Amino acid sequence: MKGKDWLLTGDGQYQACKSVREWDLLRENYRLYRFLTEVEDILNSVDDEASRLPELQMLVRRLIVNSYWVRSQYLEPSPKTGTSVSLLYDELGFPLTVQTVTFAPGTRSTIHNHGTWGIVAVLKGQEKNTFWQRTHSPEFQDKIEQTGELTLFPGDIISFVPDAIHSVEAVGDEPTVTFNVYGETDPKERFEFDSVTDKARNF
Ligand SMILES: [Fe+2]
Repeated sequence: MKGKDWLLTGDGQYQACKSVREWDLLRENYRLYRFLTEVEDILNSVDDEASRLPELQMLVRRLIVNSYWVRSQYLEPSPKTGTSVSLLYDELGFPLTVQTVTFAPGTRSTIHNHGTWGIVAVLKGQEKNTFWQRTHSPEFQDKIEQTGELTLFPGDIISFVPDAIHSVEAVGDEPTVTFNVYGETDPKERFEFDSVTDKARNF
């Protein structure tokens, strides 16, 4: 699972991050529960969780490199919606959600932020990310404009700060499977954007 490491910031800019060599990530029995414990230790030690994204991203890479179980925990896309979600971990009181998401080819997401930090690793297929930035025009507070595009391949991992805005589309001809970790969403800060009407709404 070689791949590139990326970070998307709130201004819609993406940057490449330093990757740890795969060889240095190999561990025996590095399972989901070890990952969760290490993530929890990092989160407990800071106020600004997004400041620790590089370390958290390294743990995600360590997990997908070492855990065949995690890599194989995904569902076929629903024929109705083109997507499906397999929740791997979500516990009340532990501010973390871990899931895999499957998108049938051609399926697109809305334009959204997450209202929390997030890390997404591509396990299968190709995911085209489109990046956006709020432009805060006086007339339209929620006006956004596109800032870039990046297609991610298996092994690629991208981190998002809480106000980073993106939309994704499964490209290529097999379903796209991603492994996703999110912090605790602030529902007041999570929005879907409409690039035509320049409106945003909580979701
Ligand atoms: Fe997203």
